[in-house]
Amino acid sequence: PPSPFPASELGPAGDLHQPLSGSHPGLTTNHGLPVSDNQNSLKAFSRGPVLLEDFILREKIFHFDHERIPERVVHARGSGAHGYFELTDSLADFTTAKVLTETGIKTPLFTRISTVAGGSGSADTPRDVRGFAVKMYTKEGNWDLVGNNIPVFFIQDAIKFPDLIHAVKMEPDRGFPQAASAHDTFWDFISLTPEAMHMVMWIMSDRTLPRSLRMIEGFGIHSFRLVNADGKSTFVKFHWRPRLGLQSTLWDETVKIAGADPDYHRRDLFEAITSGAFPEWDLAVQLFSEDEAAAFPFDHLDATKLIPEELVPLRVIGKMVLDRWPDNFFAETEQVAFCPSHLVPGIDFSNDPLLQGRLFSYLDTQLSRLGSPNFHQIPVNAPTCPFANQQRDGHMQMQPQQGRVAYEPNSLAADSARENPQGFRSFPATESGERGRIRHDSFADHYSQARLFYRSQLPAEQAHLASALVFELSKVAALPIRQAMASHLQHIDDELARRVVDGLGLEAMPAPAPLARPVTDMA
Ligand code: HEM
Repeated sequence: PPSPFPASELGPAGDLHQPLSGSHPGLTTNHGLPVSDNQNSLKAFSRGPVLLEDFILREKIFHFDHERIPERVVHARGSGAHGYFELTDSLADFTTAKVLTETGIKTPLFTRISTVAGGSGSADTPRDVRGFAVKMYTKEGNWDLVGNNIPVFFIQDAIKFPDLIHAVKMEPDRGFPQAASAHDTFWDFISLTPEAMHMVMWIMSDRTLPRSLRMIEGFGIHSFRLVNADGKSTFVKFHWRPRLGLQSTLWDETVKIAGADPDYHRRDLFEAITSGAFPEWDLAVQLFSEDEAAAFPFDHLDATKLIPEELVPLRVIGKMVLDRWPDNFFAETEQVAFCPSHLVPGIDFSNDPLLQGRLFSYLDTQLSRLGSPNFHQIPVNAPTCPFANQQRDGHMQMQPQQGRVAYEPNSLAADSARENPQGFRSFPATESGERGRIRHDSFADHYSQARLFYRSQLPAEQAHLASALVFELSKVAALPIRQAMASHLQHIDDELARRVVDGLGLEAMPAPAPLARPVTDMA
């Protein structure tokens, strides 16, 4: 066969010039100027200095120099895909949200699954929580369900989030570890945060070593409200359940995979979707009333608690299918901007103080990450339903106001946007009590559900969990931090505490941590 490197395309100095032909469009600058030579900069003579005049060189390098945008402050490493949600069981008795009441409709969506601690170039497989964020482009606006693969969280109040993340991320003086929880600052913070103990059990379990992103669960975590046509509110928790089942790797496998293929999860998702093996998840809900919530032996507004399925069973209402890999990773997976405050009418927030803080944080960070208040116009973020208001201008405005009128009310424009009486209304909950920086004592039991989780594990899983704690804490140099963790573990399970103390070679079992509330056996 002829050489794919034809001599006719060689310039006098051996530089390759592929000429315009066939279906190839002509190369131009960003301003449309046809470019005749993309190999050589403009020089004073062939071996001479490059001229400042070379605007083609400058434009090309200028754009390259600005290719990177700030990565997400958390969840920087992630993989995303397009798909749809199809409702099979209407929740019309509970909500007016069309996406949860119109069965058989396929609502398009974009889902991004991520690790939390590592940078955007870190490996896919460290022991870490996985973010599970879904943006549904509904007829009534975008609904973002921004969850994790664990149904509870480390902290109860958003004011602790910067501290948690500063403790988990690489340490500021040394710049490592970039994607691991096995270090002093993480365990220092955790050991001083008893509310984290339930989440710690999940983190140290095999759940944080997923076999594939197609085989993880997703949870909305917080209680949300559904509001029906009569204005009645019902609390709801959202669960995504993988149809392939939940599968994990062993620690030894995880470590090998991280070395052999840092893109393991991204590659797996890409190969599955591009070869037609579309991953699917059931969407299930737990529905409960204010009165039922009042009878729970924990507070459902506390994000460190789950609602056991024995108390409120899951009701499967539909499925998500991921069937299209993005055309462009940067444009879609990197620029997608999820936000827990993106709701549709018929869904509302609860008073969970962690959720309330999140409502501010995402929009705020996305301005610095995406650089313009108009980032909602980026195709992956824009609603697919019509949207209109009187906001105008700003950096990168692509949808300028039409005509004279950019205010409301007005009498001059027949086509300007007006209030919609059917639009979103916050649920008129009655609130009373004293204002203050206070935490209700219903948030005080930090160990009962940690025990519930540990005791729900099979013996092999308990052994993995204990080994994970021993491994992680053995990387912690400060002895008091190891001891503080052992003092918490005794409230969860004596045998677990013993295994960890023995595994770490501690001389004696430390005294148990102080208790604000007695630990109960929930199972
Ligand atoms: C990003 C989940 C708590 C601030 C994310 C992402 C997920 C997530 C899945 C990645 C979204 C994506 O793929 O682009 C959660 C869950 C939480 C939680 C489930 C607790 C239940 C918080 C809190 C704050 C916070 C309390 C702050 C007060 C952020 C920020 C980002 C982020 C700033 C980066 C967003 C971006 O750059 O687009 N979170 N998060 N998160 N989260 Fe959270």
